[in-house]
Amino acid sequence: MSRSRRYLDGLFAPLTEELTSHELDVAGRIPAGLDGRYLRTGANPRPDIDPERHHLLAATAMVHGTELGGGRVLSHRNRWITPPPVPPRLTRDLLVPAADGCAGLFTHAGDVFASAEMGVPCRLSPQLETLDLADFGAPLPTGAAPHPRHDPRSGELHLLAYHFEAPYLRHHRIDARGQLIESRDLPLPQPGMVHDFALTAQHLVIFDLPVRFNEDALLDGQPLPYRWEERGAARIGLLPRQGPSTTTRWFAIDPCWVSHVAGAFEVGDRVVVDLIRKPSRFRHDLRGDDDGPGELLRCTLDPRFDFALVEVLDADPQDLPVVDPRLPNSERRWLWTTAQEPDDHGHLPAGRELYRHDLGRGQRATIALPEDFCAGAMTFVPAHPSAPEGKGWLLGYLSHRSDEFGEMIILDATRPEAEPVARIRLPQRMPLGSHGCWLGRP
Ligand SMILES: [Fe+2]
Repeated sequence: MSRSRRYLDGLFAPLTEELTSHELDVAGRIPAGLDGRYLRTGANPRPDIDPERHHLLAATAMVHGTELGGGRVLSHRNRWITPPPVPPRLTRDLLVPAADGCAGLFTHAGDVFASAEMGVPCRLSPQLETLDLADFGAPLPTGAAPHPRHDPRSGELHLLAYHFEAPYLRHHRIDARGQLIESRDLPLPQPGMVHDFALTAQHLVIFDLPVRFNEDALLDGQPLPYRWEERGAARIGLLPRQGPSTTTRWFAIDPCWVSHVAGAFEVGDRVVVDLIRKPSRFRHDLRGDDDGPGELLRCTLDPRFDFALVEVLDADPQDLPVVDPRLPNSERRWLWTTAQEPDDHGHLPAGRELYRHDLGRGQRATIALPEDFCAGAMTFVPAHPSAPEGKGWLLGYLSHRSDEFGEMIILDATRPEAEPVARIRLPQRMPLGSHGCWLGRP
């Protein structure tokens, strides 16, 4: 495979058709409690893409959706995201990359949003049509980074946005009705990439990592003009959720890339952050996310020290952590990740099994996937609103290594050894994507 087609062939090969299906083969039994839509986005460039310009994290995107209800598959569809041009009133004339929607999906106030790495989120209809750009009632001057954080207690949505023009990092707080109620600048001293962050009951946890803005990459027209900075420093910042950001406490860590945060919580005056650490980003692979394996880490931020206390919870290659969405900001027992295993070309994004971590007991169980299938990010759906933590289902799409048909899989999250609860055969291939979400029926 030529280097320029690395993210256009094999498991990443884009689909060329939009389909809507209502009759799908199901093996197993779809739980009646799953009443809503599972959605997932990812890069899916149009056929006329110039391979030299393709970037896995800043590309024309396609969203896939499977509607479940009454123990049946009601529909499955896939649609390209077609964002309108970003109007200046949303961005205050800052140079903001396209709102491609390929990096993440989230729900808020009953709506679904597709997020870009550093663009304005797109609002999607339940039928996956692109409705408009999301300004949440006020301009988001630099859009938003892909991973927002919900606060289940207040119903608020917190967004970070990074940019290479000062201020380099912004924090937006959206109320439960979807209206922006506060924006503030955060103290990032130089422009860096910030893919994810954490929220606790009292604090925001941010990352200042050596993946820095690179002017040469910008002038070259690269959609994400950030590169690994050799000998650059890394640190974790802790600041109050509201009020002045000048009180940020910084905790040094070894240079790394934090790909995703599983969650964070407070224990007395300490803050514990569970996250996936990778050795670098945009150092070797400038078009995707393949700069080395991820490992599961626990970082404790103790005010007595100016460095983070780091414990490797699991050094085996993995990424894409999932927790019970009802407990994103408090201590929890269960955590699922997707194992990283090299594909036929030695690249790491493909996962042929999942891990269930019992953080309470320090144990890990492996969840096998059907033979020759690979998983990307999974989504956890509680069995019902008052179910105990971790009781529910894991949903996700599987990509087959050679078959022309993908699958959706539903797993009992409490039983890693069990056969899948259901396997839904999809009408066409399923390329590896980025992230998904669940939109329950209101
Ligand atoms: Fe992500």
